[in-house]
Amino acid sequence: MQGRARVPGDKSISHRALILAAMTVGETNVSGLLEGEDVLHTAQAMRALGASMERHGEGAWRIHGVGVGGFAQPAGPLNFGNSGTGCRLAIGAVAGSPVTATFDGDASLRSRPMRRVLDPLEKMGARPLAIADGGRLPLTLEGASDPIPITYEPPMPSAQLKSAVLLAGLAAPGETTVIEAEATRDHTERLLKHFGAEVTSKPHGERGRRIILQGQPELEPANVVVPADPSSAAFLMVGALITPGSDLILDAVMTNPLRTGLIKTLLEMGANIETLSTRDDGGEEVADLRVRASALKGTEVPPERAPSMIDEYLILGVAAAFAKGTTRMRGLQELRVKESDRLAATADMLRVNGVAVEIEGDDLIVQGKGTVAGGGDVKTHMDHRIAMSALMMGLASDNPVRIDDAGFIVTSFPGFVELMRSLGADIT
Ligand code: S3P
Repeated sequence: MQGRARVPGDKSISHRALILAAMTVGETNVSGLLEGEDVLHTAQAMRALGASMERHGEGAWRIHGVGVGGFAQPAGPLNFGNSGTGCRLAIGAVAGSPVTATFDGDASLRSRPMRRVLDPLEKMGARPLAIADGGRLPLTLEGASDPIPITYEPPMPSAQLKSAVLLAGLAAPGETTVIEAEATRDHTERLLKHFGAEVTSKPHGERGRRIILQGQPELEPANVVVPADPSSAAFLMVGALITPGSDLILDAVMTNPLRTGLIKTLLEMGANIETLSTRDDGGEEVADLRVRASALKGTEVPPERAPSMIDEYLILGVAAAFAKGTTRMRGLQELRVKESDRLAATADMLRVNGVAVEIEGDDLIVQGKGTVAGGGDVKTHMDHRIAMSALMMGLASDNPVRIDDAGFIVTSFPGFVELMRSLGADIT
C-alpha cells in the first residue's frame, strides 16, 4: 500500500453533530460529515422530528434545528438501519421531548439490546409504550413532557448510553449527572460545550469521569468540522503494517485520547507509525500519520483499554494474526452486542483463514505466526467492520480472502473499495 489518503469523517461526531444541530434554534453548518448510510439514517430521523437538513456539497450540510424540547410528532416509524449509535442517541433526544416515536432498524439492529438505554430514561420520565421481546426494536417511546434530572452510573462502559442520558437531560431542569467507572469517548460532552451548554467533566476514581450537565440551556448554533474517523483509518493502518513494502500517509486522523487504544497497542507490537504533525481541528486533536510495513510481535491488551478501541478488535485480530507470538485481548464482553457478536466473528474470521485462535471467557487469544494462509470464506453477519477487516487480511495472506457481502461497508466507509484500490489493493 503506497500513497496518501484521508478517510471519511468520524461516525460518532457526525451523528452527534446532526442531533445537536437539530436541538438548536437557528442554522448550523457541518463540514466533513460522514455520508455513510448510518449517518444518513440519523439525518432522515431528525427531519422526521421537524429539523431541516440540507446537503449542499460533499460532506457539507446546513441544518435548521427546532430547539431543545421542540421536536415535532413524527408521521411514521424512525428507521435507523444498521446504526446503534444513531438509534440510541435519538432515543435519548426524544426521551426529553413531549412526542411519541417508534424506533426501528435492520435485522442486525433489531437483535441489539435497547433496555440499557431505557432504564435511565424511564427514571427521567420517558415511557416505553411497546417493545419487542428481549428489550429489542421495534420500540415505541413516549417522551417526558417534564423530564426529571438524574444521577446515573452506567452498568457498562458505553458512550451511547452516556450520550442518551445527557441528550435527555438537556430538557430537564437542574443537573443531570453521569458517573462513568471507565471513561468512554467524550464527543457528546465536547459538542455540547461547543453548542453553548454548560458541561463539566471531572476525574472519577482511577479511570472514570463524573459528567455534569446543566439542563435547559439555549443551545447556540455552532459550525462543526468533522475530523477523519480513527476507526476507519484503523483498516488502512493495519493493511499497511502487514503488507510488505507499504508506506502510507493518513491525513488528519482524529487522535482524541479516548479513541487511540489501537494505535497504542500497535506501537507496543512494534508498529512503525510516525506522527508527522498534530493540530486542533474543530475541537478535536488530529494528526497526520505515516505508517510503514512492520514486523509485529504479539502483545497483551488489558481490559481497561477496551473503551478506547472498542470498534478496533476485529482489525487488531488481523494484525495479531500477522504478528509473531501470542496476542491476548482481555475483557471483550461488550463485543458480543455490536453490529454482530464480534467476539465470535473475529475468531471465525481468523479460523477460516488458518489462524489458531481461542476464546476463553471474555478474552480472545490469537496465535500469530507472522504469515496467514488465507483462502477462507468470511461470513460478515451484516457487519461493516468484519467485511473491511477480512479484506485487509486478504492484502497480505498467502491466498485471497473472500467475504460473502460487501454491502454493509457503506454504513461507515463509503468509497472504501475504490480508496483501497487507489493505494494498491487488488479487490475484485
Ligand atoms: C459509539 C460508541 C460505542 C461504539 C460505537 C460508537 C458512539 O458503542 O462501539 O461504534 O458513537 O457513542 P457503545 O456505547 O455501545 O460502547
